[in-house]
Amino acid sequence: MGRIVTVAVSTLNQWAMDFDGNLRRILESISQAKAAGAKFRSGPELEISGYNCEDHFFESDTRLHSWQVLATLLASSVCQDMIIDVGMPVMHKNVTYNCRVAFLNSRILLIRPKMQMCDTIMYRESRWFSPWTKERTVEDFFLPRIITQVTGQTVVPIGDAVILTRDTCIGFEICEELWHPASNHINMSLDGVEIISNSSGSVFVIRKAHMITDRVKSATAKAGGIYMYSNLRGCDGGRMFFNGSSSVSLNGEIVTAGKQFSLAEVEVTVATIDLEDVRTYRNNIRSRTHSAARSSPYPRVKVEFSVCDNGPFKLTNDMMDADNLDRKEVGEFHTPEEEISMAPACWMWDYLRRSCQGGFFLPLSGGVDSSSTACLVFSMCNMIVDAVKDGDNQVLADVQKIVGDFTYIPKDPKQLCNTLLVTCYMATENSSSETKARASELASEIGSYHHSIIIDTAVSAVLGIFQQVSNLTPRFRTHGGSPRENLALQNVQARLRMVISYLLAQLMLWVRGRPGGLLVLGSSNVDESLRGYFTKYDCSSADINPIGGISKHDLKKFITFFGYKFNLPSLGKIIQAPATAELEPLVDGQLAQLDEVDMGMTYQELSTYGRLRKVQCAGPFSMFCKLVPLWSHCSTREVADKVKHFYRCYAINRHKMTILTPSCHIECYSPDDNRYDHRQFLYNHTWKWQFDAIDNQIQAYEDDK
Ligand SMILES: *[C@@H]1O[C@H](CO)[C@@H](O)[C@H](O)[C@H]1NC(C)=O
Ligand SMILES: *[C@@H]1O[C@H](CO)[C@@H](O)[C@H](O)[C@H]1NC(C)=O
Ligand SMILES: *[C@@H]1O[C@H](CO)[C@@H](O)[C@H](O)[C@H]1NC(C)=O
Ligand SMILES: *[C@@H]1O[C@H](CO)[C@@H](O)[C@H](O)[C@H]1NC(C)=O
Ligand SMILES: *[C@@H]1O[C@H](CO)[C@@H](O)[C@H](O)[C@H]1NC(C)=O
Ligand SMILES: *[C@@H]1O[C@H](CO)[C@@H](O)[C@H](O)[C@H]1NC(C)=O
Repeated sequence: MGRIVTVAVSTLNQWAMDFDGNLRRILESISQAKAAGAKFRSGPELEISGYNCEDHFFESDTRLHSWQVLATLLASSVCQDMIIDVGMPVMHKNVTYNCRVAFLNSRILLIRPKMQMCDTIMYRESRWFSPWTKERTVEDFFLPRIITQVTGQTVVPIGDAVILTRDTCIGFEICEELWHPASNHINMSLDGVEIISNSSGSVFVIRKAHMITDRVKSATAKAGGIYMYSNLRGCDGGRMFFNGSSSVSLNGEIVTAGKQFSLAEVEVTVATIDLEDVRTYRNNIRSRTHSAARSSPYPRVKVEFSVCDNGPFKLTNDMMDADNLDRKEVGEFHTPEEEISMAPACWMWDYLRRSCQGGFFLPLSGGVDSSSTACLVFSMCNMIVDAVKDGDNQVLADVQKIVGDFTYIPKDPKQLCNTLLVTCYMATENSSSETKARASELASEIGSYHHSIIIDTAVSAVLGIFQQVSNLTPRFRTHGGSPRENLALQNVQARLRMVISYLLAQLMLWVRGRPGGLLVLGSSNVDESLRGYFTKYDCSSADINPIGGISKHDLKKFITFFGYKFNLPSLGKIIQAPATAELEPLVDGQLAQLDEVDMGMTYQELSTYGRLRKVQCAGPFSMFCKLVPLWSHCSTREVADKVKHFYRCYAINRHKMTILTPSCHIECYSPDDNRYDHRQFLYNHTWKWQFDAIDNQIQAYEDDK
């Protein structure tokens, strides 16, 4: 009587609409699972089409190509003698569902549609899919002809059913269902389902690492059973970074887990488990068994197949370290600094290789923001060198294609950084020598191909054109100019940097004798975007912005961490220096412009406003009410003034958020107008009604005293 089962979860770096690449990666994961002796393989959500196909899910082509890929899998010799489930969109009676399709030996066993849609943060599943709401019900699904040709079947079951093999019972839960208060795994486990496969498209958000682990653990702690969690990893063509960490748990303990951050396209995590452990665990929770005895049954798809090995002797994952009393937690936990050093770096790597460009161009100012971006590229280079050292041939092939040399083997991160990253310090006469020195010091420490240039001639040429039309010369504030003049003079400098960046990005590889061009990197942080403290179409406009989802607070912590980790002393000086845009002249040799003074608020305050506005959904009035008790160091009126100032700035600048350079989503209070923070961009910035509410509240409070 078999009882030892080996199952495999897969972490795949899929790419929306790349059916060819997606098929290749799925097949690779299946063959790795097979080589490891698995009899059941599961994969991430919508792995065939890719998760972020978005409005492509409205196109019948997307479903057609998904069936074609499935037909190839069904016919493949690699896919025999193993129960496999894959994710794809399926239309049933003219309704599109997000499904798992389970098959064995070229026959489809069950199509299991997702029952809860995910519409939070950047997810919009209800826009393309409907939830299957018919509990414990199956219907006939008529297969397309291309599938019938392979399987000989015309009708298969679709719906909320489970698969009964000779030795166990397998059920499915799809992503959001795990999060839902009434998760399906409870009902399934009560009905004797021992293995639950959960396919996910779960993304990274800073400081949330514990969440999945907690859910996955608690999913089986109460109900007992084997929980298989497969997740996507990487940038599949959008702003999300899928965070891997596929795992297998048994009775509330994770027995094995894959990596959260890695450049590997395919990672298969295998666990060997004794099914008797599930039965013993369940049977010992007496209250559970009594409710289980009452549970109504799921439709079962019966299949003459054993997922267990024959013999009783095989070392199971949970026993591997059983002699050691001080066993450590399975699975990775990273500090926020480590998360920042890896998540955007992996995301940038996918973007670089998938956009077929030759590297990155970065305007490096010597401040915290652009230095952080440079560090992230350096972090990526370290990950590439490590992956190649570990024998990852896909990474090697990709890097060779990027540099246009099929003999190149990256061995030294600094040398690779020199090949992939061009940095440039663009000075005007108002730039200080300290920032210039800091920029070139950092460049030499990480190895980037660096130049310092002076752009004054361009600035004066543009101002000369203005004089032609107006006969006027704008002046800086410190020279008696009006705010308009002062701002215009700053914006000219800032925007010319963008023009020069794109010129250099296009031509620097030509200069260096290599084909192709460079991607321009932007570096404006989430707080500046929220406050609108940047010039529209300056260096913040770029191809991608790796730090666009990170707060200033976290960037500073990250830089400190990164400086120690890689021994980059220049970062120590960068963190000490006051944050400044350096667009105004020095006054008596001193900086006349400091970011926090200019903005009229601190970065710390901005983070608080950001969280309250987006995460806690506070309008001006609620924000004021929450901040009065929190900021007890300020008077009620001071709090009111701060809140009003923030909302005025926000309203005036919201239009800038419509053109934020795409960045990797990381921080929960990102104001990214495109996919995340849906709001209008034209406001009446007086907020009359809202601010009156605040004033009335103050009045009532003061009258009370
Ligand atoms: C759409 O509905 C029609 C009529 O019920 C049916 O014949 C057809 O098979 C459906 N197609 C799909 C893909 O659901
Ligand atoms: C697995 O768990 C994840 C958690 O993100 C959940 O989103 C996903 O829907 C689950 N998938 C299945 C098949 O249960
Ligand atoms: C679980 O089963 C109960 C009782 O049959 C039912 O009311 C409930 O909706 C089920 N929950 C889910 C998530 O299917
Ligand atoms: C992956 O990201 C999701 C969303 O932020 C989070 O809930 C989950 O815990 C993360 N997983 C890990 C292992 O960090
Ligand atoms: C820089 O500052 C000087 C005075 O310190 C000023 O005259 C000049 O216009 C500024 N240059 C630019 C390019 O803004
Ligand atoms: C904005 O609101 C104020 C107060 O209601 C009003 O006086 C003003 O005219 C509005 N601005 C515009 C441009 O409508």
